[in-house]
Amino acid sequence: MMDLVIVGAGGHGREVLQLVRDINAVKPTWNLSGFVDDAWTAPRELAGVPVLGKPDWLQGRSCAVTVAIGSPAVRRKVVQRLMAAGVRDFATLVHPEARIGARVTIGAGSMIAVAAVVTTDVRLGQHVLVNTAAVISHDCEVADWGTLAPRATLCGAARLAEGAEVCAGATVLQGIEVGPWSRVGGGACVINPVGANETVVGVPASCVRVRDMNWQDA
Ligand SMILES: CC(C)(COP(=O)(O)OP(=O)(O)OC[C@H]1O[C@@H](n2cnc3c(N)ncnc32)[C@H](O)[C@@H]1OP(=O)(O)O)[C@@H](O)C(=O)NCCC(=O)NCCS
Repeated sequence: MMDLVIVGAGGHGREVLQLVRDINAVKPTWNLSGFVDDAWTAPRELAGVPVLGKPDWLQGRSCAVTVAIGSPAVRRKVVQRLMAAGVRDFATLVHPEARIGARVTIGAGSMIAVAAVVTTDVRLGQHVLVNTAAVISHDCEVADWGTLAPRATLCGAARLAEGAEVCAGATVLQGIEVGPWSRVGGGACVINPVGANETVVGVPASCVRVRDMNWQDA
């Protein structure tokens, strides 16, 4: 059993706790040490698990880490901060009731939640989040930091560029590319390519906002 710490003691942190417990129920894999969180002020428990301290609690410790933060930009910042502090071992977590097909590659630090389906010949980069009941179809690619909210769907050969986010229940039609650090609003249906840093909403999806280039670094 490897020691594991969850970074982020918010709502998504408790989702990841459940995911870890579900993995361990099938095959004891992780010895969960607890959470760390920037908002830590004093020792406490969350869902029966200790909140150990701020992320610098990890310094000098050899344990695997999972970053439980839904926003791709914030997740990237936290991972970069942890890497600068020497953290190297980012756990890849796949729920035992997710369906993962043949020739699917999953990068380090990525997380696939309960009831997600990743069919076949799919590439998922590092620190990708595939949330509850999301669907990723054949020949799709999700680059690093790509994020699918619950029930988001990528049809065949769709592509999410780095940091792109598909919000709850949205669909990206076959072969369509969603550009880097752009966002597809909840319930949207994307029928045309989405440029970098855009927010698109509606059916069919259209652009309502373009954020500044490199907004994710601000
Ligand atoms: C797209 C989203 C991220 C908001 O982006 P935003 O840049 O803050 O956009 P705003 O709220 O300023 O809205 C801009 C316009 O788009 C509209 N809009 C926003 N989200 C929309 C949606 N999902 N569907 C349709 N229209 C939407 C707003 O009504 C507004 O229209 P208006 O200019 O005519 O008033 C958000 O609406 C959304 O879809 N969130 C879902 C998040 C999610 O999936 N969470 C699950 C986490 S597990």
